[in-house]
Amino acid sequence: MTITHDFTGQTVVITGAASGIGAASATAFAAAGASVWVLDVDAGRGEAVAADIVSGGGRARFLRCDVTGDADVEHALGVVLAEDGGIDVAYCNAGIGWIKPVSTTEPDEWRRVLDIDLTGAFLVARRAFLAMRPRRSGVILFTGSPHGYRTMAETSAYAAAKAGIGGLMRALALEAAPHGIRVNSLLPGAIDTPALRAEAELSGDAEDAVRRWGAVRPLGRIGRAEEVADLALFLASPAASFITGAELLVDGGAMAAQPAGLATVAPK
Ligand SMILES: NC(=O)c1ccc[n+]([C@@H]2O[C@H](COP(=O)([O-])OP(=O)(O)OC[C@H]3O[C@@H](n4cnc5c(N)ncnc54)[C@H](O)[C@@H]3O)[C@@H](O)[C@H]2O)c1
Repeated sequence: MTITHDFTGQTVVITGAASGIGAASATAFAAAGASVWVLDVDAGRGEAVAADIVSGGGRARFLRCDVTGDADVEHALGVVLAEDGGIDVAYCNAGIGWIKPVSTTEPDEWRRVLDIDLTGAFLVARRAFLAMRPRRSGVILFTGSPHGYRTMAETSAYAAAKAGIGGLMRALALEAAPHGIRVNSLLPGAIDTPALRAEAELSGDAEDAVRRWGAVRPLGRIGRAEEVADLALFLASPAASFITGAELLVDGGAMAAQPAGLATVAPK
């Protein structure tokens, strides 16, 4: 990380923090002094992320929380509030990918993706907002995706959920602004995480897929989870005090480019 932020004395809740972007963000917020709550359905990896942070001198605790269940979310945030007295940053990051077109996606599969990727974010953001509102301060972050704008036929339910994150984020940003609470989305892609590696395996040649996904980006590579964490810390910090209702790309320039087939000059 090149910019230093100070979150000393702040409480940060991150969902999907047992792995990938969430784990990197938990580590970065803890390194910046925050009391970090690692929320995830994966207790083994979640406990390990929290233990790593603590062994490095940071403050972190794991709570098992399935974001699709409001009772789970209420319980987890209740523990955080009882222990720390408030929530300064809630990062609604938990999510799963989806590789099937609309025609072969079963209704129950559709509901599951929407449940985790969109409704789960709503449940956590809603309760975090309710906890932040009386204190008139706080930051809520979402992990959206460029797939909310430009996608592929196979990413049907995922694209729909991530487009929904944009609408949820903007509506909450408007509701929260008069209460001094900022709300923004990060749009990462493609980031080297276990989820991305699992998706690469589907192609039959994972290393080739990762190389191709990097090569199509103007910066010539895929991103690191720590590079998304850097953006999360910036958005949660006072350096972003006038930023709300925004979606920030961290995608190596991919969304800036027109599809290659539209080029009007022959490549050199
Ligand atoms: N990796 C990328 O390139 C990329 C790109 C765009 C968006 N994203 C988004 O970033 C977020 C994190 O993805 P990642 O790549 O780090 O994936 P990851 O699989 O490494 O981590 C996701 C975490 O979410 C947890 N999770 C899944 N369902 C849950 C539930 N119901 N309740 C609580 N936790 C749950 C998993 O156990 C896992 O620890 C997701 O929302 C994903 O859609 C990732």
